[in-house]
Amino acid sequence: MTPEHIKLVTDTVPVLRENGVALTSYFYKRMLNNNPELKNVFNLDHQSTGRQPRALAAAVLAYAEHIENPSVLAKAIEHITTKHVSLNIQADQYAIVGENLLHSISEVLDVPMESDLIAAWKEAYLQLADILINVEKSKYQGLTEQNGGWAGWREFEITAIDASENAKKFTLKATDKQEILAAKAGQFISVKVKVPNHDLEQPQQFTFAEAQNDAYQIEVKPEVDHTEYSVANILLDTYKVGDKVLVSAPIAKS
Ligand code: HEM
Repeated sequence: MTPEHIKLVTDTVPVLRENGVALTSYFYKRMLNNNPELKNVFNLDHQSTGRQPRALAAAVLAYAEHIENPSVLAKAIEHITTKHVSLNIQADQYAIVGENLLHSISEVLDVPMESDLIAAWKEAYLQLADILINVEKSKYQGLTEQNGGWAGWREFEITAIDASENAKKFTLKATDKQEILAAKAGQFISVKVKVPNHDLEQPQQFTFAEAQNDAYQIEVKPEVDHTEYSVANILLDTYKVGDKVLVSAPIAKS
């Protein structure tokens, strides 16, 4: 990036941060309207709480602020890419997020898409996207290289549902009957379910309380005051032994 472009970006970070809510709500509305298939990727229950929407835009702003020394964000990059890999985020989806984010920045700052300012933000976004895409690529590769490991989604069957205090324990076995990656206590998987009465799937992370070997067991607790997209409530209310879910490989929290 040229020094002029870096200045354009860093000078506008505070304004965008002040308008953070407008930026993120415009961004998500626009993106999910134009690319409704992403409703299967983003957890719509989290969208309703506003937690995740703020996280993505805040991370882009934090990166932009430190554009001359992105190494200060190494921890954040590790955290984001771990989450992305557990959700099977793909390189080509970065273009969609970027396009919508740039339109949202143009809207919030009230500058045309063809301006120098948006060109500078585009460079900043692409630089960050490139870092994330490369880290994610090596994480996917690392997962496939381990015994029983895989990248993306794999079909599992619910083989048992046991009641425990205020929760149910779901036992999940791979339907291909092949080896599955062993997991340590504290690692997590994403589980994807079908949302009843909608043509939609929704993912959610579950952390293992104990080490796991030839099956995975997740504890599912009911979620109060959540939307119809709560994966925990969908599992508890509609899934039975013999039903199938999609599962991503266990990964360590960062
Ligand atoms: C430069 C681009 C991106 C940045 C800076 C970014 C940043 C983030 C951050 C900070 C989080 C929250 C992590 C957490 O849960 O603690 C997140 C989660 C997530 N990101 Fe990204 N992301 C980017 C691109 C993408 C792309 C291209 C996709 C796919 C379309 C995507 C999909 C998701 C999803 C589905 C979640 C989890 C949301 C949830 O559970 O509610 N992100 N991202």
